[in-house]
This record gives sequence, structure tokens and C-alpha cells, in this order.
Amino acid sequence: MEIKVIIGDITSIEADAIVVNLFEGVERPGGATGAVDKALDGAITKLIAQGEIKGKLSEISVIHSLGKLPARIVAVAGLGKQSDFTVDRIRSIVAEFCRSLRKLNCRQIATIVHGGGVGGIEPEIASQAITEGSLLGLYRFRKHITKEPENQDIEKLLIVERDAAKLPSLEQGYKKGKIIAEATNLARDLINEPANYMTPDDMAKSAQELAKTYGLDLTILDRGEMEKEGMGALLGVAQGSQKPPKFIILSYRGDTTSSKTLGFVGKSITFDSGGLDIKSSEAMAEMKGDMSGGAAVMAALSAIAQLKPKINVTAIVAATENLPGGNALKPGDVLTAINGKTIEVVNTDAEGRLTLADALGYAVKQGLSPLVDVATLTGACHIALGDICSGIFGNSQELVDKVIKAGDEAGEQLWQMPMYEEYKEQNKSEVADIKNSGGRWGGAITAAQFLAEFVDDTPWAHIDIAGTARSEKERGYSVKGATGVSVRTLVNFALASVK
Ligand code: BES
Ligand code: MN
Ligand code: ZN
Repeated sequence: MEIKVIIGDITSIEADAIVVNLFEGVERPGGATGAVDKALDGAITKLIAQGEIKGKLSEISVIHSLGKLPARIVAVAGLGKQSDFTVDRIRSIVAEFCRSLRKLNCRQIATIVHGGGVGGIEPEIASQAITEGSLLGLYRFRKHITKEPENQDIEKLLIVERDAAKLPSLEQGYKKGKIIAEATNLARDLINEPANYMTPDDMAKSAQELAKTYGLDLTILDRGEMEKEGMGALLGVAQGSQKPPKFIILSYRGDTTSSKTLGFVGKSITFDSGGLDIKSSEAMAEMKGDMSGGAAVMAALSAIAQLKPKINVTAIVAATENLPGGNALKPGDVLTAINGKTIEVVNTDAEGRLTLADALGYAVKQGLSPLVDVATLTGACHIALGDICSGIFGNSQELVDKVIKAGDEAGEQLWQMPMYEEYKEQNKSEVADIKNSGGRWGGAITAAQFLAEFVDDTPWAHIDIAGTARSEKERGYSVKGATGVSVRTLVNFALASVK
């Protein structure tokens, strides 16, 4: 879909549909909505008076212009209560009306800048949110469907503004929104891909493509090199699979004058069967998505490379499958991680933390700081927080606060979980330095405590996206399937880290 910002009058736009808006409780719309109402001989005011249009959040009212305007359809998007209005609501509203209009077979649509007027949101921010909402909300993963979709894609979205002075900031917002939304959709594509199309090698190939397209540095370690590095924990997980693991290091260097490099680490189990502690078929069904963290950090780097902040960022993706087999890891096995710590494997399904132990340990060895990891780590986090927010943990409150703020700006909610010392007790092993599961209770926290053993004193934050990586239904700018969560948080965080 092509998006364009233009200066003009929404009432004279030739498109299949034009979109105006209404706050809840407004009886006589002003501004652009008022102008369209006038052109429609007061149809909007009438429908408000009759109680059909209420302006409730995400209410989409469709009015046929029947020749009174060049556009076939006028859609009135409800903005909800003005006092509750947020930037994230713009994303959701735009996503909702875009999908509604696609269903009505619209190919070209035009919208006013929601939030720009009485909403009081800066034009650049509003334009970015409109761009993100439309691109994210219209996303579909149809790669393996041979049948044509019932409704074609929307070809063009015009963002229409009257005031020519706002054009530069609207365009700026659009550009940023496009880069960030497309990166999120790239992560969604990688995650939605079935595990037979997204093996560790396929992840490495995707990284190669990104490196080539965006001029990123890329190093890929193979099994032999991982052995040399002493990545016994990661290799333990990988040994049950016929497919070789890939250790992917993707780097953006935007500040060659600085030796400081931010590190993003993403869990990348391209399929998690549980290993010998095999999952139930119900639990296993969605495990192609267990590389969502890896997809997020790779996609974030692709956006950062386009936005070009003066900063260095390295993404680390330790990609492997977790499968049972004749050579698979067995409960009771002891592994040695890159930092020399020994781990008793009490559950082969707690594999993510094993791979992250070596990925984080490697990041520390490379001097990356601060570190942010993103992982579909624990079912316990999904149970604790549902699918509304991700869990965040860390050893530096300052860093955790920064990541939460970056998420907030993106509409990606993060809830901090505790890291009390007392939880560490549950990870104690009698045969090794630590064991890879602290049991059922507080499972998301003990998993985070496990990871903390591999970051030394490096400031580190861990985001558990087990509940948020996948959406069960269409909701706002999330569609069913992969959400691409954390891409936008990481990008905002990187941009905010520029001195
Ligand atoms: N990949 C799973 C966690 C997960 C569950 C992600 C549901 C997305 C949705 C992880 O590897 C896992 O299996 N964790 C176990 C840990 C347990 C064995 C200590 C879990 O949460 O049950
Ligand atoms: Mn698992
Ligand atoms: Zn897993």
C-alpha cells in the first residue's frame, strides 16, 4: 500500500472512501467532519441525533455519499471520549477503519489527521500513528494460500491536511512510521512462517538479506565455532535436532567514534517441541513462534539501520530447534555454559534459558552494554499477565524504566516483575551450579533469575513475550497470529539512547 500526505480539502478528494471522525458525546461536529456533514446535507448530525453515530471508540459508521461528494463512502470513525484519547488509540482506530473499508472493497482511501485538531496531538506523532495503524492493521500473511483473497489489498491511503504549514512534520512522521511498521511486519512474516520454512538456517539467510539490504555487519557462527566459544548450553539444546544451529550476530554501526554498543538478544527456538520432556499437542501447536524474540531483534535492527541514529547496536540470535531424538538432551544432563557455569537440565522444555545463557554470556564477553533480551520464555508469564502486556525484569532499575518508557510510546505495554533474592533458592541444584527450572511457582521470575546468572554486572533487562507474541484475534492494529511485539519498543529504546 502506498501512503501519501497531501494538502487539500477532504470534501473534494476523489477516492473510494474518505474518513472523518467524532469524539464521543459531540452532537455538532466541527472541522473536517463538519465540512463533510455540510456536504452531505447534515446526514452526520442527523445520525448522531438519531443515536446511530455515538463516537464510541472504534465505532465505524459508513454513509454512502450518493453523488454528494466525489468519494463513494464517508466513514465516521469514533474516537471515544476526548479525555481518554491517546496516540495508541489513533493506531487502533486507523487499523479498524482500514480493515472495514477493505471489506467494503475500497482500494483508495483518504483520511484526515486524527488527533491533530481538538485531540491536541502533534502532527508528526499523529501522522506516524496513522501510518503505523494502517500498515499494521492491514497486515495479512497469505504466503502459503494459493486462493485469491476475498477482498483485494488497499492500494493507496491519502493523509489529507488543510494547513500547508504542517506538511513537513506530517511527512516526517509518515516516514518514521513506515520504517517502524514495516519492520514490525517483517518480524511478523518471520514468525508466521511455518517451522519447516523458518529453520535456523532460514533465520541466518534472513539475517543475510537484511545485512545486504541495509548495510549491516553480519557474523554467523557454526557448530564448530560455538564449540570453540564454549557454548555448551546452547549446543545441548541443539543436539536433538538434525538441523545445525546458527549463532547470528547482526550489527549496526552508527557511531564509529564510540566503542559503546547496545546489545539486543532474542530467543530463537525455531520450533519448541519440548524435547524429551515433550509438550502436549495443544501446547506444541504454536511453537513455531518460539523464535519471536529473535525475529524482533533482527527486525528492530533493520529499522534502526534505516533511521540511522548515532549509536551502535548489535543483535544476537542463537537459532536452534528443540526436538527429541536419539541424541537429544536428557533430563538430568549437566551442561557447561560459555561463562563456565554448570547447569543441571531438569526439564528439556526449559530450553530457552539454556540458549539465552550462552547468547547473553557471549554478549557480555563482547562488551555489549546495556543488554535487552526478548524471549517467549515462560508459560508462567502468559498466565500472570495474559496477552495485554509483556513482563519485564532486570538488574538495573534505570534501564528497566527506560525500556518501559520506550514501550509506552509504542503502545507496547510492559509490566515489571520482581527479582527478589529469595526466588533464587528455587534454581539451586545439588549436582551443578544451577538448574534450568525452578518449578511451577513464580516460573517467569525464576526463569529471569536464571538468565541473571549470565550477565555479570552488565545492565540488563529481560522482556518475556510468551503471552504477547501471538494474538488469538483481531484487536486494533494486532491481527490474528504474530504481533511483532517488542520491535517498536526496541527501536524507540535505541533512538532514545542517542546522547
Ligand atoms: N517456549 C516455551 C514458553 C511458551 C509457552 C511460549 C507458551 C509461548 C507460549 C518455553 O520454552 C517453555 O516451554 N517453558 C516452560 C518452562 C518450564 C518447563 C519450566 C513452561 O513455561 O512451561
Ligand atoms: Mn520449551
Ligand atoms: Zn521455548
